[in-house]
Amino acid sequence: MGYDLILKNVKLFSVAGPFEGDVAIKDGKITKISGDIQDQADKVVNLSGKYVIPGLIDGHTHMEFPFMSEVTADDFYYGTKASIAGGVTTIVDFITPPKGSSLGEAYEMWRKKADPKVISDYSLHSIIREISPKILEDIPDMIAKGVVSFKLFMAYKNEFMLNDSELYQLIKKISDYGGVIGIHAENGEIINELIQEFIREGKVESVYHYYSRPDILEIEATNRIASIASLVGKHVKMYIVHTSTGEAVDIITSYRKEGFKFFNETAPHYLMLNTEYLKRPDGYRFVMSPPLRSDEQRTKLWMRLASGDIYTVGSDHCVYSDAQKKRYKDDVPPFHEIPNGVPGTETILPLLFYFGVKRGIISMERFIEVTSYNPARLFGLYPRKGSIMPGADADFAVIDPNRRVKLSADVLHSNINYSIYDDVEVEGWNIMTIRRGEIVYEEGQVIAKKGSGTYIPGKTPVMV
Ligand code: URP
Ligand code: ZN
Ligand code: ZN
Ligand code: ZN
Repeated sequence: MGYDLILKNVKLFSVAGPFEGDVAIKDGKITKISGDIQDQADKVVNLSGKYVIPGLIDGHTHMEFPFMSEVTADDFYYGTKASIAGGVTTIVDFITPPKGSSLGEAYEMWRKKADPKVISDYSLHSIIREISPKILEDIPDMIAKGVVSFKLFMAYKNEFMLNDSELYQLIKKISDYGGVIGIHAENGEIINELIQEFIREGKVESVYHYYSRPDILEIEATNRIASIASLVGKHVKMYIVHTSTGEAVDIITSYRKEGFKFFNETAPHYLMLNTEYLKRPDGYRFVMSPPLRSDEQRTKLWMRLASGDIYTVGSDHCVYSDAQKKRYKDDVPPFHEIPNGVPGTETILPLLFYFGVKRGIISMERFIEVTSYNPARLFGLYPRKGSIMPGADADFAVIDPNRRVKLSADVLHSNINYSIYDDVEVEGWNIMTIRRGEIVYEEGQVIAKKGSGTYIPGKTPVMV
């Protein structure tokens, strides 16, 4: 039998550990994994000395995201180009229904935006920003279309924030149909008070973004939503997105020990950067929510990543150009007017591989667990995605473990002219991305065509 592609002499890593040998691919699927495959193939690639891992699943991206009166600079083309260059073969992005729109209408809008542009494969969550009988009715239809997870916000007053009674009703409804709930956990009411206080006092520099969103407001919101969700019952599947404090992880872990299906996601910038970045002249670039925190919190997050208490790492890729961040003015605007978000999808792999695996903080298996296996299970993509077995999609990232690269803007693919990791050098770099059996990125070049990614409907999550 002729294969389409054979990867020879690979050091293949999965959650089950390493394997050395060959991988044969046919029609986009992994077909055979064996010590030595000598069959015919259209193409044979020798990868000796390289590490082959499952393509990353970035479960948290905002491409073409309408937020804070701007639309993010990375649309589904630029954004997924960055993903593919970073070894991310699947993203899970957010349908963001305009106010007054049904979830079904918004789903159609997002498929029309994404389908002609995506290079990676993609699945969709839906944001729910308001509640009505129609929205509640839409939820089972969305799950049937493959949108199995929903993001609810406890912050961003007047834009996305829901109150406790709305949160309770939505958690109940989504859980009735087996859906997953993603929570942005920060106390938006108190944040709003603190913002007003600082503005009245003339404290407008970017670092006040951090002072207006202290750790305790994430911890309080996490505690509150866990209490509310626990009241609904043990069938609730909930994860706290972009967790930035160790305490918020510990709250969720303690519920999980009681049998609740509650989890945490964190993002690489909370592992890498601290509040000091907000004090730089370009501090406006580092405004995201929750904000960057102390080195003590960074350490707590690394420890919880290593222990397995943190379930997934998603980038929260939400890119604004300098002009957008500065609202088209010369001076930096007051902190509360700066659009929230940072790039991240392209740098998950090098940052976790170098600062996590190579520094001996996390194992290769844990790295794979939080970047592909767990997101695949949480968002109902497993075993088509996030698994290395015959029949699964042939999605791989190929790492040169010795390649040294500085993470400056010129090596990255986002539609902006800066990098938030300008001063960071890594050892270990993605040199090839394979998406459904096709080499879509090699040596700095994204080869795949615009629109060649595929929508992957989520199924009701099996493992959580
Ligand atoms: O600052 C952030 N995180 N921007 C994206 C929106 C969100 O809350 O995820
Ligand atoms: Zn062929
Ligand atoms: Zn959020
Ligand atoms: Zn986000």
